[in-house]
Parts: sequence; C-alpha cells; structure tokens
Amino acid sequence: MEFPIVRPRRLRVSDAMRRLVRETDLLPRDLIYPLFVTNGKNVKKPIASMPGVYQMSVDNVLKEGEECLKLGIPGVILFGIPAYKDEKGSSGYDPDEAVQKACAALKKEFPTLIVITDVCLCEYTSHGHCGLIEDGDVLNDPTLDLLARTALSHARAGADIVAPSDMMDGRVGAIRSALDGHGFEKIPVMSYAVKYASAFYGPFRDAAGSTPQFGDRRSYQMDPGNVREALKEIEQDLAEGADMLMVKPALSYMDVIRAVKEVTNVPVAAYNVSGEYSMIKAAAQNDWVDEKRVTLEMLLSMKRAGADMILTYFAKDAAAWLKEDM
Ligand code: PBG
Repeated sequence: MEFPIVRPRRLRVSDAMRRLVRETDLLPRDLIYPLFVTNGKNVKKPIASMPGVYQMSVDNVLKEGEECLKLGIPGVILFGIPAYKDEKGSSGYDPDEAVQKACAALKKEFPTLIVITDVCLCEYTSHGHCGLIEDGDVLNDPTLDLLARTALSHARAGADIVAPSDMMDGRVGAIRSALDGHGFEKIPVMSYAVKYASAFYGPFRDAAGSTPQFGDRRSYQMDPGNVREALKEIEQDLAEGADMLMVKPALSYMDVIRAVKEVTNVPVAAYNVSGEYSMIKAAAQNDWVDEKRVTLEMLLSMKRAGADMILTYFAKDAAAWLKEDM
C-alpha cells in the first residue's frame, strides 16, 4: 500500500493549527463604514433595498461614529443627501449642507475617527449625472472645477481624506491643486481610480437618490470587460497625486484588485458595494445563507485578493462578529 507523502490535511487538524498557518486575517481596522448624511434632526430613514442602512441626520451620524470607534473601525465615508439639487450640483460645495456639517461635528466629537468624504456631483445634480450636462453629454473639463470646489469644501469642514468617485479625466490633479492652493497639502486623495459601470450600484442609488434621470454612466465609468484599462487609470491617478487607489465594485472584480495590487505600492481599497450587500441580506432573510459566515468569508477574500482596506455596509456587523470570534 502506497501512502501519500504530502498530506495538506496535517495542517488542518484543529482550529489552533489552522490559525497558525492562516495567510490572511480580516481585522476591524481594515474596514470603513459608509454613511448617508441628510439635513434636519433626529432623522433615521431606512433604505428599503438595504436593510440596516439609513439616511441619517448629523445627530444620528455622531452615534455611528462613536460605535465605529468602539468596534475598532478606524473610519467612515460620508455621502450627502442635500436639501436641494440643481444643474451644477451646487449643494455639493455648500458649507451649510449635511456632509460639511457632519465632517465638522464628527471631527469635533471624535478627533481620532478618520472622516472620508465621497466627492461627486451625482447626489447633488438635478439630472443625477456625475458631471455637467450639455446636449445630453457629460462634460469633462468644466466639471473639474466643481469637483475641486466640492473637495475643498469638505477639507474646510474638517475631512481627513477626500475620495473622488466621479470618473472624470484629470479630477485627481484638479482636486490636488485646489487643496494645495488653499493650505490643504496634507489632505490625502483616495481615488476611486478603477470604477466600473456596474449594475451592483442599484441599491445605493436608492439610498443616495442619485439615479441618472436619463441615460447611464457608461461614457465615464469603466467597461466591466477591461482590466488593462484599470492599470492605465491608476497610472494616471498616481501621476496626478493620488495617495490611495480604490477598486469598485469588489466581489466581481477580485482579479482587478489583485492586478492593481501587483503594480502599485500605495494602499489599495476595495468597495464592497450596495448590491453585494443587498444580495447577502436578501438571502440571509430567507435563511438561504449564514449571514455571518458568508459575509466574513467575502470580506476576507477581498483582503486575500489584495485589498488593504474595505469600504463596506457590513463594517459594524463584521467588526462585532470578529470580536465575538476572538
Ligand atoms: C457616486 C457613487 C456611487 C457609489 C459610490 N459613489 C454610485 C454610482 O456611481 O452610481 C456606489 C456605492 C454602492 O453601490 O455602494 N458616484
């Protein structure tokens, strides 16, 4: 009788042995929690397609900030639900709007919490596109100034990091130079460098009220078939001064996370987007999957693929589950 010489099972015999040889760990400090901030007081409006996620006024956002710190989550990313919208997305750089107020309040209460802001126009424009519109076309260069103004207003309000998600060409450079020109040279830019035109953003557009009123985002977000183009995007953003790079969505783009990680030395973030969250929530509500186990496996896999940090609506749950398992 011949015996197998190599027996991988030897290193799988017990939990202790498996821990000893585990290559990747998911930690609360890897997670960033997205928050939808709105005006008013005492608002906590559920989002139907994203159970457990709410549009919240600043008072409630503060409670979330506190919970994050308690759970060991280092930071949050803010999305705005403004009081008004127009063609140019002016509420995006209005100092009295929800995101700006939330930045200031969070930094005052919790100086150690990292506050990231999403910089884009789609939540603030009446047409729901991420740039200015002319004859049905999304204009690139005239949009850059508006994005730069938005980023600057976030920095003035106290944001620690600004994260442009619009996919206009040249926006990292435009934002970098606006920040540097106004004394914010220390504020890093986390670029949504590799952002695909994805159907997985569906629930988010409900949450943020940012569905385009006509057409789609395919003339500015990337085609899902491409990966070399992702490398071109990151090269460009790094040349313009991006400090961190993001790949979005995450679950269907693990190969892209890996490809980006292999060619860059800056931190890589992955965005576990709304559709990825809602799919698990829906299945879990039907008892079709074990929510805790599939979620932790999914997030761990994103890290294994190369993500240094993960933006996820599961951040609080995942951090609590990880503590439970310690
Ligand atoms: C804004 C923005 C979007 C998301 C993050 N920033 C939506 C979009 O591009 O349509 C999606 C996040 C998610 O689905 O969780 N441009």
